[in-house]
Amino acid sequence: MAGNWKMYKTPAETVAFFEKFRPLVENSSHCEIVICPSFTNLQAAVGAAKGSAIQVGAQNVAWAKEGAFTGEVSGPMLNAVGASHAIVGHSERRQYFNETDETVLKRTQGALEFGLTPIVCIGEVLADRESGRTEAVLAGQFQKGIAGLTEQQFAKIVIAYEPVWAIGTGKTATPEIAAETHRAIRAQVREKFGKDAADSVRILYGGSVKPDNAKVLMGQPEIDGVLVGGAALDPVSFASIVNF
Ligand code: PGA
Repeated sequence: MAGNWKMYKTPAETVAFFEKFRPLVENSSHCEIVICPSFTNLQAAVGAAKGSAIQVGAQNVAWAKEGAFTGEVSGPMLNAVGASHAIVGHSERRQYFNETDETVLKRTQGALEFGLTPIVCIGEVLADRESGRTEAVLAGQFQKGIAGLTEQQFAKIVIAYEPVWAIGTGKTATPEIAAETHRAIRAQVREKFGKDAADSVRILYGGSVKPDNAKVLMGQPEIDGVLVGGAALDPVSFASIVNF
């Protein structure tokens, strides 16, 4: 159960979130919990999560270890502050910051090389869905962005399916649409990496997940977890999603 805080919260607000959130998920041993705040909040989040099972991730990661890459943050830097995960290829990165399937692959490899678990996002826009191109678009993102990993690398990633039309819009994919798309993604995985990889990879659903739809989404056997934006900013709401 992953929370993507996007560009929200200060370090003080981060600490305040954890104070309320921690007791609410103290006994939630059925899942892994990861919160991905802005880079500037990572240290505060790691400190505030200490002694709990809550993990902390970044929202992006560079492919290089260090160098002349203004504005980038590397895997070793994220490791050094205690982050364990990194979201890669979020649709907002693709849409506003020119992230491509090629850079998504490089960043995924960068995360893995430095011991972080990448949460690799794929998803179609509304026009793709409406013109019946969803599977083709996802297959393209998979082929160019994920299929370039080795089997060993693939075994360490988490995939997040986020239909772009459902992000921040209040429009959730129906559980059936989400499950059907997860099945298509899993079929791609099976074709490329084999049955065991397809059975064991975790595929999260993201896009307007809220406390009142988490249970029905999680009721789909194809959906292994959720990546939550807006509803992860509030401790009570994210805890109720975690404890669906
Ligand atoms: P949302 O965002 O839950 O606010 O729709 C999900 C995401 O962008 O990861």
